Amino acid sequence: MRPGFSKAAGSTLESFIMGLVDVAARPGMISFATGLPDNDLFDVEGLKRAADEVLTEDPCGALQYDSSAGYIPLRKRIAERCRRVYGFDATYEDVFMTSGSQVCFDLVSRMMLDPGDAMVVENPGYLGAIQSFSAYSPRFIGADIGPQGVDTCQLASAVSDGAKLFYSIPDHQNPSGYSYSESTRREVADIISGSGCLLLEDDAYGELGYAGRVGRTIKSMAVEDTVMTGSFSKTISPGMRVGWMIVPEWMREQTSRSLEACCLQSATFCQRIIDRFMQDRDYDAYLDGLRRGYAAKKRVFLDAMEDNLPDTVRWNDPDGGMFIWLRTPDGTDATRLFERLIEEGLVVMPGRPFHVRGGENTVRLNFATPSEEGIREGMRILGRVCRELY
Ligand SMILES: Cc1ncc(COP(=O)(O)O)c(C=O)c1O
Repeated sequence: MRPGFSKAAGSTLESFIMGLVDVAARPGMISFATGLPDNDLFDVEGLKRAADEVLTEDPCGALQYDSSAGYIPLRKRIAERCRRVYGFDATYEDVFMTSGSQVCFDLVSRMMLDPGDAMVVENPGYLGAIQSFSAYSPRFIGADIGPQGVDTCQLASAVSDGAKLFYSIPDHQNPSGYSYSESTRREVADIISGSGCLLLEDDAYGELGYAGRVGRTIKSMAVEDTVMTGSFSKTISPGMRVGWMIVPEWMREQTSRSLEACCLQSATFCQRIIDRFMQDRDYDAYLDGLRRGYAAKKRVFLDAMEDNLPDTVRWNDPDGGMFIWLRTPDGTDATRLFERLIEEGLVVMPGRPFHVRGGENTVRLNFATPSEEGIREGMRILGRVCRELY
C-alpha cells in the first residue's frame, strides 16, 4: 500500500500550460502558445560579463548562503525603482527576493488563506497563479475583466462579502493583454483600502509597456493593503529564477518567517549576477531596447493576422507585454480550433482554462516566442483553419 497524497495535493489544479510546453517542443511544431520571452533578446554577453565579475570579485559571497530576504544591494535597487518608477516609497526591508514571482503566490496564500476563504481572481486570469492558490482550497470568485480592466462592481461586491485576497495583473494582463484604465486603478485602490481584503498586484509585464508604463501602480494608491510582485523573468531571464515581492510593513516579519520556511532563500549567485548586470548597464536604456524589440515583434504578428485571418474572428492590439487575445465567433468553442491547429503543426493556448466562467470562444496568442518566419508560417495555418471552421 502507498501513502495517500494530502488534501492540498488533491486540490491543486492541473497545469494545462506545462502540458502545452511539451506539445510545443515536438519537432516541426510552431508555437504561439507559451509565455516564453524572445531568445533573441537575451543579453548573453552582458550576463556572461556580470557572472565573471561576480565570481572574480567575491567568489565566496556569490556561492554562499545569504539572508532569506535576499541580497541587500539588489533589494536596494528595487526599492529605488519603487520610488522612481512604481510611484511609492519603500525601503529594502520591504523587498523580499524569491525564486521567480510564482513562489510569491504560494507564499501569500500560505500567509493569508485558510480553506474555504473567498478570494477574487480576474476572469480570465493567469492560470499559473490560480493553480498555486488552488492548493490552499480558497473559494474562487471571478471578477470579469475587459479593455478597461476589472469589473469594479463585481470586485466591490466580493470584497463586501468578505473576500480576503484579490489577485490582479493591471498591466498587459496574461492572458488577455488588457491593461487597467487610470479610473479603474483608482476605484480598485478605493475598494481595497482598509477593507480587510489584500491586493496581490502582479507586475510581471509592467516594465514591458512599449511606450513606458501604462498607468500608476495600484500599490502606490493603497500601499498598506497591497503586496506587489515583480520578476526578472520577462526582462532578463526566466531561467535565472529571480523575482521579488514588496510587502507592507505589517507583513514583513511574517513574510520573512514564511519565506524561510518555504525555500530558505532564492539563489545568491543569480541575484548577484542580476545586480551586477543592472550596475554595469544603463538599465532603463536596456529596458527601452527590449520594449522596442517586443513592439516590433507585435507589429509583425499583427500584420500577419491582418493578412491571413478572416473577419469572423477578432483580436486586440495590446500596448505592452507578450499576448494577443483572439475571439472566435460568439457561440463557437475554440477547443475545436486548438485541436485542428495541432494537426496542422501549430499550437495555441485555448482561453477557456483561464476562466472561472465562460471564455469558450477565446484563444491566447504569444507573439514574443516564435521567430518572424514562424509567425508568418503559423499565421497562414491559423488563417486557413479559421476559414475552414468559421
Ligand atoms: C502574469 C504572470 N505572473 C507571474 C508569472 C511567473 O513568472 P516567474 O515565476 O518566472 O517570475 C508569469 C509567468 O509567465 C506570468 O505570466
